[in-house]
Amino acid sequence: MKVTIFGSGYVGLVTGACLAEVGNEVVCVDIDQGKIDRLNQGEVPIHEPGLDSVIDRNRDAGRLQFTTDVDAGVAHGLFQFIAVGTPPDEDGSADLQYVTAVARSIGERMSEYRIIVNKSTVPVGTADRVRDTVNAVLAERQVKVEFDVVSNPEFLKEGAAIEDFMKPDRIVIGTDNPRTTELLRALYAPFNRNHDRLVCMDIRSAELTKYAANAMLATKISFMNELANLAEKLGADIEKVRVGIGSDPRIGYHFIYPGCGYGGSCFPKDVKALERIARDVDYPAQLLQAVEGVNDRQKLRLFEKIDGYFKSDLKDKTFALWGLAFKPNTDDMREASSRTLMEKLWAAGAKVRAFDPVAMEEVHRIYGDRPDLVLCDSPEAALEGADALAIVTEWNLFRSPDFAAIKAALKSPAIFDGRNLYDPEHLKGEGFDYFGIGRGNVGG
Ligand SMILES: NC(=O)c1ccc[n+]([C@@H]2O[C@H](COP(=O)([O-])OP(=O)(O)OC[C@H]3O[C@@H](n4cnc5c(N)ncnc54)[C@H](O)[C@@H]3O)[C@@H](O)[C@H]2O)c1
Repeated sequence: MKVTIFGSGYVGLVTGACLAEVGNEVVCVDIDQGKIDRLNQGEVPIHEPGLDSVIDRNRDAGRLQFTTDVDAGVAHGLFQFIAVGTPPDEDGSADLQYVTAVARSIGERMSEYRIIVNKSTVPVGTADRVRDTVNAVLAERQVKVEFDVVSNPEFLKEGAAIEDFMKPDRIVIGTDNPRTTELLRALYAPFNRNHDRLVCMDIRSAELTKYAANAMLATKISFMNELANLAEKLGADIEKVRVGIGSDPRIGYHFIYPGCGYGGSCFPKDVKALERIARDVDYPAQLLQAVEGVNDRQKLRLFEKIDGYFKSDLKDKTFALWGLAFKPNTDDMREASSRTLMEKLWAAGAKVRAFDPVAMEEVHRIYGDRPDLVLCDSPEAALEGADALAIVTEWNLFRSPDFAAIKAALKSPAIFDGRNLYDPEHLKGEGFDYFGIGRGNVGG
């Protein structure tokens, strides 16, 4: 089948590569010439495990092309996927300018039946807006061309995106036309083999499903963080509590880890956008407001602990920072907790020596060269001359370090662990002051 994908970011690239992998002819269109040039030169602009080899294989086989040529993109695919960004606007609502621009581009050029498949995360009613935009452009052109608009939200997780796309838990299809459902069923058949994963529904419900999924996951995290803060005050250990509640199958162990807040390109913006959607229909979504508020507060926890330990005297202190990405296995630093911590430390006059296995280019792209940020090429190098260590991302590499070496390198034997990687008793035995999230502090 012929597929065009607008937007070659995390979602567009993974979708394009995986659809090509099963034999489709895919054209990926992006407006970012630099990104397309890199892709055509064999580079993959993001870090996503396994993505490079799928892209290489399919580009070499001629099934996957990258271009900025919108004419060629619209002419190519029966399926026209929209996978562009929907960042938060000033008021928290999803900014739909990129989605609308793609809809216009398609409407301006299409000359035969097209299925416009929206994969971007968008407010309920956006499919209608896309349809209206295309109809308006067709009317300007004084032509009649048939098309359908489908909502097909994406649920991939950065860091495991290829696996998630190839073996999805579910494929949500929102349409009002049974014929398009069947065409999408055929497109997704290779990913839908041992049992039916297609969940078909009306368009509005599909649009809301994506927000509901992310808001539910964000709620789980904020709930655990709320409990973690309470546990600290009550002298309980949230990690014990986590296992205690996770053993109830109605609760489960997944996604109930306390920490220094959620980040990334999805949860923060999607919770905000859903809250805004609710406000627009005169429904104050109290739970969503609380989820966001708890997370904003949680992102400050590590700084507060550091500030407390050093009695608000952080000027000219240096902190080793392990982990910059918002979670392991990605280089994505959008809304990452590391950014909140670094910016607070800098504002207090401290310096940061940072290491992340894959996000070093990204941190440099965001902050550039600055005297209070030293980028280090190993966890050990980050410790050199540092007063204390803070951990923000739970990379496997950080799980079992040489504690004696850490202690020897740091001026104060203090670790501020935003992901509860270590056993407090063990760290106590190693002679550290150790501050996790929600588990009582050791030393200090
Ligand atoms: N990143 C995730 O894990 C994830 C998961 C599920 C859903 N989503 C949703 O998918 C959408 C895309 O997210 P992303 O992380 O891939 O974004 P991204 O920022 O990584 O990529 C978006 C791309 O779209 C391109 N673009 C913008 N306007 C364009 C146009 N008119 N024509 C062609 N390309 C254009 C940009 O240059 C950019 O390369 C968002 O709505 C997001 O919420 C993201």
